[in-house]
Amino acid sequence: MNIFPIILAAGQGTRMRSSLPKVLHPIAGLPMLQHVVDACSALQNRNVACHVAIVYGHGGELVREHISGENLNWALQSVQKGTGHAVSQAIHLVDADDVVLVAYGDVPLIRSETLQQLAQGLQDCSMCILTTELANPTGYGRLVRDADGAVQAIVEEKDATDGQRLIREVNTGFIAARGSDLKRWLKQLTPQNAQGEYYLTDCVGLAVAEGGSVNTVLCPDPVEVEGANNRVQLARLERAYQQRLAERLMLEGVTVADPARLDIRGKVETGQDVFIDVNVVLSGNVKLGKGVVIEANCVIQDAEIGDNTRIKSHSVIEDAVIAENCDIGPFARLRPGTVLEARAKIGNFVETKKAHIGRGSKVNHLSYIGDSEIGVDVNIGAGTITCNYDGANKHKTVIGDKVFVGSCTQLVAPVSIGEGATIGAGSTITKDAPAGELTLARAKQMTLKGWQRPVKGKK
Ligand code: UD1
Ligand code: CA
Repeated sequence: MNIFPIILAAGQGTRMRSSLPKVLHPIAGLPMLQHVVDACSALQNRNVACHVAIVYGHGGELVREHISGENLNWALQSVQKGTGHAVSQAIHLVDADDVVLVAYGDVPLIRSETLQQLAQGLQDCSMCILTTELANPTGYGRLVRDADGAVQAIVEEKDATDGQRLIREVNTGFIAARGSDLKRWLKQLTPQNAQGEYYLTDCVGLAVAEGGSVNTVLCPDPVEVEGANNRVQLARLERAYQQRLAERLMLEGVTVADPARLDIRGKVETGQDVFIDVNVVLSGNVKLGKGVVIEANCVIQDAEIGDNTRIKSHSVIEDAVIAENCDIGPFARLRPGTVLEARAKIGNFVETKKAHIGRGSKVNHLSYIGDSEIGVDVNIGAGTITCNYDGANKHKTVIGDKVFVGSCTQLVAPVSIGEGATIGAGSTITKDAPAGELTLARAKQMTLKGWQRPVKGKK
C-alpha cells in the first residue's frame, strides 16, 4: 500500500492572536505541524511510500523554514477556499492508486498507529473517515448515517438541521481515500453552502451517490484528534502530550514524582530506577543513566548523565557530559562544554563552562571554572575564579592532579598549576605554579600595634 499523506496547514489561525503562524506554535518544543509531519513519516517506515505533501499558505516561507523531514512536498494555497480546495492544491502530486491520507497541521497529538488504522480502513470501501464522539460536538461536521448505520454524508455545523446537530459522532478531518477517486470527486465540489467554501467533506456524499460505501474508524480519545485554535487549547494539548511522555518514561522504569510537573521538550533516554522530582524541564537530547536522581526545579538540556549521579535542586545544565556517581548542586550551573568525570562534585553557586573536571575532583562553593582542564582529586576552594577572559580573548587554565586551591583564589589564564601543588587562599595567580609546592600571591599580613579606631568628632 502506497500511502500519501496530505497535511492541511494553510489556515490563518486568527484566534491564536499571534504573529507566528498557527501551525508553528510549539507542543513540547516542536511546531505542531512538525508533530504531524513526524507521525506521517513514521507511518511511511512501515509502507513503501515516501512522500508527504503539506498545503501551506498563511506564514508561507516561515512555515517552510521551520519544518523538516524527508521527501516533503510543499503545495501553496494562496487563498483559503476550504478543505476541498486545499487538498486540490496537492492532488497533482498523487498517483491514481495511492492511498491519500488527509491530515491537519494543527492536530499535533495524532499518532501514526491511528493513521495506519485509517489507511487500513479503506480496504473494501471508497472512503474511510476518522471520527470521534464528543459530549459537545458544536462546530464540527456531523456523521449522518442511514437506518442501517451506513454513512450517508458529513454535514457541517452551519449547514446542519437542528436534528443533525444532535449527532455526537463528528468528523475529525482525517480521511483516507484512493488518489483516483479523490481526483474525480474534487472536480465536482462546489461552494454552494453556508460558508461558500469547497468542503472536502462533500466527497462523502459523492462517494455514496456513486454507490460506494464509506467506512469509519472511531478514535476513542478525542484529545488525540483535537485541533489547537487558540492558546487555551494549545496549553491543554501540551499537558495531554506531556502526560503521554511521562507515562512512557514511567513504563520504562522511571519514577516521576508528578507527571503534571515534568516537561520534556525533546528526546529522553533513561536507565532503570531514575527518579525525577517536581518541576523539571528536560530538553534536547537527554540521557539519564541508571539510578540518576534529578531533584526539584532542575532544567537540563542536551546532557548525558551517568549512573547514580544526583542533580540537586535548582540546577541548570546545558550541553554537558557528566559521568557516574557525581554530585551536582543545589544551585549549580553547568554551561556548554562541561565534562565531569566520575565522582566529581559541583556544589552550590558554581558555574562551569568548557571545563573538564577529573575523577573525584570537587568545586564545592561559589566558583567560576571556565576554559579549564582539571585533573583528578583536585580540591577547588570556595570562591575561586578562573579569570579566563582578558577583555578580548579567552585563555585556558590547567590544573594538575591532586592540586589544592585555597579559597578565594583568582587564576589568571593562561596559567597552569603543577600536580600536587597547593595554592594559598586569597591568591591572585598570574604565573605558572610548580608541582608539589605551596604558591601564594597575596600581600603579607601585618599588625599596627596600638592603632586606635577613629571616634566621632563633636559638632
Ligand atoms: C473541518 C471539517 C469538519 C471537521 C473539522 C474538524 C470540512 C469542510 N470541515 O471543519 O467536518 O469536523 O474540520 O476540526 O472539511 N485548511 C486549509 N485551507 C483551507 C481551509 C482549511 O489548509 O482553505 C486547513 C486549516 O488550516 C486546518 C484544517 O484545514 O488545519 C481544517 O480547517 P478548518 O477551517 O479548521 O475546518 P473546520 O471548519 O473546523
Ligand atoms: Ca477547525
